[in-house]
Amino acid sequence: MTTTEQPRAPQFPLHRGCPFAPPEQATEFRAEGAPRRVRIWSGAQPWLITRHDQIREVLGATDRFGADVTVPGFPSTSDAQPHVEGDLFFRKDGAEHLPTRRVLNPDFTAKRSEALRPRMIELTDQLIDRLETMERPVDLIEHFALALPTVIICEVLGVPPEDSPRVHEASKKVVQLSISKDEKLAAMQDMHDVLQKHAERKRTEPDNGLLSRLVNEYVDEKGQFDFDYAIRLGMLAISAGHETTANMIGLGILALIREPEQRRILLSDPDKYAATCVEEMMRYWSMVQTEPRRVCLQDTEIGGVLIRAGEGVICNLPAANRDPDVFDNPEVLDITRVERRHIGFGFGVHQCLGQNLSRVEMQVAWPRLFQRLPDLRLTVDETDLHFHNDALTYGLEELPVTW
Ligand code: HEM
Repeated sequence: MTTTEQPRAPQFPLHRGCPFAPPEQATEFRAEGAPRRVRIWSGAQPWLITRHDQIREVLGATDRFGADVTVPGFPSTSDAQPHVEGDLFFRKDGAEHLPTRRVLNPDFTAKRSEALRPRMIELTDQLIDRLETMERPVDLIEHFALALPTVIICEVLGVPPEDSPRVHEASKKVVQLSISKDEKLAAMQDMHDVLQKHAERKRTEPDNGLLSRLVNEYVDEKGQFDFDYAIRLGMLAISAGHETTANMIGLGILALIREPEQRRILLSDPDKYAATCVEEMMRYWSMVQTEPRRVCLQDTEIGGVLIRAGEGVICNLPAANRDPDVFDNPEVLDITRVERRHIGFGFGVHQCLGQNLSRVEMQVAWPRLFQRLPDLRLTVDETDLHFHNDALTYGLEELPVTW
């Protein structure tokens, strides 16, 4: 076991040199085996965990690694993060986490998400109809990938269709890298105002959407949290699912354009391959690239290294999901792969709340798009595509196509 400082702590986030692979340094660290220190914006040097088994160990040991962003030593993403997210359940542990998660769970079960499949097919078809009327090249990020998740999450929440474009515009700005902080804050305020308006209305006009349930059952009846917290949970559901699912839809389209054999297999029997295609794309892209983060609560040895209480830990999902000890030919995209132990949606008690919903969205979006537009192709050279490399989630800024 070693407690000595590692010689070199690279700046985190690490960059992906090849857009289709994890950062080279993360791959090297995984091959070396032990956790390695990285340097974050504040100068702190949390441990980076890259091996699949070690990440599962960290995320599974909730008594030794906590998710509370306000605990000293948590490797936060900015000075503001503990203040902005500090009271939200997903940045908490135990009794401050689970009860709220249980409140949200019923709207995101596999069964509830599956029930939305026909609606997703209808919406996907409408989006493709609209694409067909547009002048080409068309940017599929803006006009396809970003649109589907927002409309669906609005329906889960019970935000009526006339307001979903407003939520869509606001959530697009929240995740856009090129706009100012003030514009982002204004967009968040707008999203807040829309949800507040509808949440108020649900007090007199209840329905079976999530907002109505939060306000009537958990704010007014049980007093489990206050009205503003209910709105912030709604905003969390929108923002957590929007950028992630949209980026995955975009990345998946790119992969299917550049790998015709995988596209052929998917279209040969979408009922059979859509589900395995989603799991493989989640593994292959591992687009949540700077999380999960935890703070060590009790000295613990991981991979031969002593991690001390109060030290931060960052899990690197891209490297773990290409771990050759778990996946055969990990660099190869194979939508018929049967090994399903990827951790693209995280692992343990904090694993993704919305995973069932995004799974069905991707299962619908990819086959439908290529069935209807079989000649879909890029209008720029692959090397001219721009990926957001430093962001929490990896993805394409634009995906210009024609057919
Ligand atoms: C492809 C799409 C998505 C990906 C890749 C993704 C990924 C993840 C990951 C890796 C985590 C674990 C974070 C951690 O352990 O610290 C997580 C948690 C979470 N995700 Fe997702 N997510 C996706 C879609 C969604 C959607 C559609 C929602 C909508 C509700 C959502 C809501 C959440 C929430 C609320 C948490 C925190 C859960 C908790 O702490 O108990 N995600 N997600």
